[in-house]
Order: sequence, then structure tokens, then C-alpha cells
Amino acid sequence: MSYMADAQPIRTIQWRDNRVVMIDQTKLPTELAFVEYDDYNQVADAIRNLVIRGAPAIGVAGAFGLALAALHSDAATKDLLVEDMQTAQRTLFETRPTAINLKWGLDHIMAVARRGTGVGDTRSSVLDAAKQMAEDDIRINKSMGRHGAGLFGDDTIMTHCNAGALATVAYGTALGVIRAARESGKKIRVIATETRPVQQGSRLTAFELKHDGIDVSLIPDTAVGYSMANHLVDKVIVGADRILRTGHVYNKIGTYQVATMARQHGIPFYVAAPLSTFDMESDPADVVIEQRRPSEVTGTGDRMTAPEGIGVINPAFDMTPPELVSGIITERGVVSPPYERSIRELFGRKN
Ligand code: MRU
Repeated sequence: MSYMADAQPIRTIQWRDNRVVMIDQTKLPTELAFVEYDDYNQVADAIRNLVIRGAPAIGVAGAFGLALAALHSDAATKDLLVEDMQTAQRTLFETRPTAINLKWGLDHIMAVARRGTGVGDTRSSVLDAAKQMAEDDIRINKSMGRHGAGLFGDDTIMTHCNAGALATVAYGTALGVIRAARESGKKIRVIATETRPVQQGSRLTAFELKHDGIDVSLIPDTAVGYSMANHLVDKVIVGADRILRTGHVYNKIGTYQVATMARQHGIPFYVAAPLSTFDMESDPADVVIEQRRPSEVTGTGDRMTAPEGIGVINPAFDMTPPELVSGIITERGVVSPPYERSIRELFGRKN
């Protein structure tokens, strides 16, 4: 997003004065508020309660959470410090099960901690690594944008959920590609789905695109088929919470419906995600789909929109099979089907 502070785009998450500062996304779109935490348990709660959300953003939040754990540990030796950090790692890891970036971020910082020599040195190298992860996130998003922008012309692009600046440190993955296409002179219009039940599309995507002056129209999730059948959509781009080595894409609930409908209408369906979103070890049966509380579905705010006591199924993510995915945009380039081969080659590449 480009609301500016001291000529810098505001970041979704950052480290300031030994605290983690983040935008409280539960308050958007009506209020741009910030929260500050000095305890990793607060960061874990923030991830669980969607104060911060989006796969890359929660990866960085996990990393800063571990930096807080290291900072406030009273361990006398480096080994005891690592033990304290492992306790924090478990708490942070258990917050949300589907986005692999969280595990990736935590594992990366724990590896840095294990390489430390003393307590002071480990604390500072862990913090440096978490700050670096935040910087890298922006650089990677820009690189994805450069690789992906060429796939789009003067297009109307549908997106689902929020894979924007608010789902990352800044700039975004899917919305980063949209930003890059626009920066390269393309006339881009966006159709954002509402993304029930938490409404990341209307609360966050519509908010940040409108802020950037990008032409965005909001539709209810139920109007995806209508929009495609009436030729309102040229292409689709979404982010991802996890991509398997086979090209199976896990993303916000409803993505599978959008991809299926895109195939029905011959519309290209692209996914933009950094390498940290790839899980080269799991099979579909291993991936845990987060199930969220029924109240997200039975009401909005204080108003009940369903009868008391009704049964609810509320999965937060679904899986889009590789055959529906036209291409995956990463910081190392765009991969195409067959994905088993192209993803393997992607990880073999140096840059
Ligand atoms: O439940 P959320 O809001 O964390 O879900 C976020 C998504 O599904 C995003 O599309 C995904 O994390 C990609 S973000 C770059």
C-alpha cells in the first residue's frame, strides 16, 4: 500500500524500539490502526485472531515473535536460550496450520539461533535474520511483479481473498503482480470477490487497491460465475498458502470454485507465490485445512444471520488441483504445467 510515512510505504509489520508493530487488520477498512507487542504470546494471539494474516505476513510475524522470545528470555546460556525459543516456536506454530510460510519462517530463525555462539550474539543474529526476512519479502514481491507483469495486457483481473500488501510486509504477491502490470503502463481493472466469511476481499483488497487508485469493483462471491459468463473477466490471479511439489495449490476457501469457473469459461487462472510457500515434502493427505469458528458464518458483527444452534462447516482454505492452474509466478520466474517437473527445476535453479 502506498499510504506514506516519511516517504516510505507503510508496512504491514515491522520491528521498532524492541517491539513488533503491525497494522490491526481486524479494524480495516474503517480504521487504519496499529498494535505493538513485546511478548511472543501476543504475536501468537494476533496471528490466531487475524490481526495479521496472509501467508508471507504470518511467516514474518512468527520470525519477529521468536526475536521477542529471544530478547526477553533470561537464559544464562545459549542452549537454554534455544530451549526457550523452542517453547515460543511451538506456541507460534500452533496458531494456524495451513500456510507453510509460518513453519518456514520459524524454522529459518531457529536454524539461525542454533548457529549462535553465546546468548548476546544469538539474540542479535536472530533479530537481524527476522529483519532481513522482512526486507527480503518486499524484494521478492517486487521480483514476482517483474516476472508476472508480462502475462497481463489491458485486462480486467479477478482476484480472491487478499494477497496484497496487507498479506505481506508490503507490495503483495498477486496484488504485487497487478501493481507491477499497472506500473508498466497496462490499463488494469480489478474485480475483487468479497471472500466470505471473513471478507478479506471487501475489507482488505478493495481497501488497498482503492488507496492506490487502482480501479476495483467488488462482487459478492456468488457473482463469480455471472461475471465470467458475461465476459467481465479476462484473467484471474490469486495468492497461495501452500503449494505442493505436484502443483496442488492451497488458498483461501472459494479459490477452487473460482478456478473451476475460470476453466469453464476458458479464462487463465494464475497463482503468485514466493518459494517460501512451496512445501516439497507433503502430499495432499498431509495438509491440515484450518477449520474456523462457526460464529464467522452465523453472524456479522453482533447481528445473527443464521438460527441459533445451527450446524456449521467453516473451512478456511481449499485445494485447487494443478490441472486448473495456468501458471505459477514466483520470484525466480513463471512455472507452467507439468508442475512436477517445472517446480523441481525451479528449486534447482540458482536465481
Ligand atoms: O485466512 P487468511 O486471510 O490468512 O488467508 C489468506 C489467503 O488465503 C491468501 O490468499 C494467501 O495467504 C496468500 S497471501 C499473499
